[in-house]
Amino acid sequence: MDHRILIIFAHPALEKSRVHYRLLKAAQTVQGITCHDLYQTYPDFMVDVDQEQELLTQHEIILFQFPLYWYSTPAILKEWQDLVLEYGFAYGQNGLALRGKWFTCALSTGGSKAAYQADGLNHFTLRELLRPLEQTANLCGMVYLPPFVIHEANDLSEAEIDACAHHYQQLLKQLQQQSSVQALTRLSYLNDLSV
Ligand SMILES: Cc1cc2nc3c(=O)[nH]c(=O)nc-3n(C[C@H](O)[C@H](O)[C@H](O)COP(=O)(O)O)c2cc1C
Repeated sequence: MDHRILIIFAHPALEKSRVHYRLLKAAQTVQGITCHDLYQTYPDFMVDVDQEQELLTQHEIILFQFPLYWYSTPAILKEWQDLVLEYGFAYGQNGLALRGKWFTCALSTGGSKAAYQADGLNHFTLRELLRPLEQTANLCGMVYLPPFVIHEANDLSEAEIDACAHHYQQLLKQLQQQSSVQALTRLSYLNDLSV
């Protein structure tokens, strides 16, 4: 049976988005994927912990989709982590609810891939900057998969964004059917998976 994918989506200004608006639309056309827009659901940041935990338990793959803001996630996604990943649910002796699930991110950056290198403008690779999420997934017993990344998001043409959205859609379908993680974990970006 296909893996059920939960996309936890965070963009505080979707009306101004060029990239994520299209990615989200593309994801929404894939059957069996739940797209959960945090800013739309919780404009007041009052995250419903029980509801979020219930959603998590109903899916095998958890995917955070967001634009990179200050080398991190938009604020609501941090709030979501702080509240939802509770002791006794996500970690700790009886906190086994997320164990064995796969975790990944789909994010965009203004910066180029070259800027995300030791000798580049941002000094660190994106994989290094995403370590807090990687270790959060580890602590919760999830399998951390490489991220799907769109660099230079603000410089892409409409046609390039459409191509990214199509690539994302294909990748999501592939993930639904993926039986083993070995082929995924060795990649640096999920973009490199042939779909
Ligand atoms: C508040 C804010 C912070 C940002 N921080 C970063 C950053 O740390 N690194 C980066 O490469 N781009 C950064 N950007 C650029 C966004 O990542 C980029 O605009 C976004 O990925 C474009 O996606 P969208 O068209 O869906 O909005 C930032 C943008 C904003 C508005």
